[in-house]
Amino acid sequence: MEENFYHLPVMLNEIDQYLITKDTGYYVDCTFGGGGHSLYLLNKHKGIKIIAFDQDTDSLKRFKENPEVQKFKDRIIFCHDNFRNIEKKLKELNISKINGLLADLGVSSKQLDDKTRGFSFNSNDLLDMRMNKEQELTAYEVVNTFGKEKLQDIFFKYGEESLSKQIAQKIVEERIKGNIKTCNQLTDIVCKVKWARGKINPATKIFQALRIYVNDELGSLRDMLNSIANVLNTGARAAILTYHSLEDRIVKQNFKENINLKIINKKVITAGEEEIKINPRSRSAKLRIAEKTDE
Ligand SMILES: C[S@@+](CC[C@H](N)C(=O)[O-])C[C@H]1O[C@@H](n2cnc3c(N)ncnc32)[C@H](O)[C@@H]1O
Repeated sequence: MEENFYHLPVMLNEIDQYLITKDTGYYVDCTFGGGGHSLYLLNKHKGIKIIAFDQDTDSLKRFKENPEVQKFKDRIIFCHDNFRNIEKKLKELNISKINGLLADLGVSSKQLDDKTRGFSFNSNDLLDMRMNKEQELTAYEVVNTFGKEKLQDIFFKYGEESLSKQIAQKIVEERIKGNIKTCNQLTDIVCKVKWARGKINPATKIFQALRIYVNDELGSLRDMLNSIANVLNTGARAAILTYHSLEDRIVKQNFKENINLKIINKKVITAGEEEIKINPRSRSAKLRIAEKTDE
């Protein structure tokens, strides 16, 4: 993989086709990451401008230092912030309405691969998992200081892990011997309770649960979804890419219940076979689109 590789954007054509209803005005990219989606859209639609959000300083660094991104510096504004603050941020920028909003949820390949971030179950990284490195709460703190019931609740709610109770119990027993520091240590503890079946690592759901909890991913998503109708122009669309069922359920439900939004794709859009071959991460992606209706 090339050294500069950040992240391969998912469903570029589908995002372009469904999101861009006007070739002018402001669009919001809630999850800039390496800028894959933003750059594609800026290149293709010369009249649009993008307000890009990302809470990760690595993404901000990418924005500032990557020459490909800097080519568009007059048409893109970067907000180093959580996308749950979108309404407040747009007000500060004096932008009342936008012509479209994209969110490509979760973590980037760069965050997963970075040995200092502690996201990946098969690494010797310190347990961390913060997307926003300025935040205090880390996965290390959760794993080493939270009580058994709280851990069980997190694993069940955010990982849908059927062995939540047994895994929480094992963690509490093991940490008496010494703090659980690395991702590998945690994976080994989970594997004492849960055995591997097929190719999926037994700790996958536990890592997902910790990441969602540490970053309050579902709370941020709900806040952002509740702002959508207030920031979109009539006829403008929101396109949300999710990667697991908890996120997808929230998006589906919110779009359905929001009286100011009309669902554009009744059937969820997924990546084609060709894309999945090139980018396996796209296999789990689900795209939902909604349009702002008249006030
Ligand atoms: C899947 S990646 C996006 C990749 C991007 N579309 C690209 O093509 O490079 C998700 C990014 O969103 C950021 N992110 C996730 N949740 C966020 C939130 N609540 N607020 C701001 N940024 C968030 C992560 O830090 C990560 O960089």
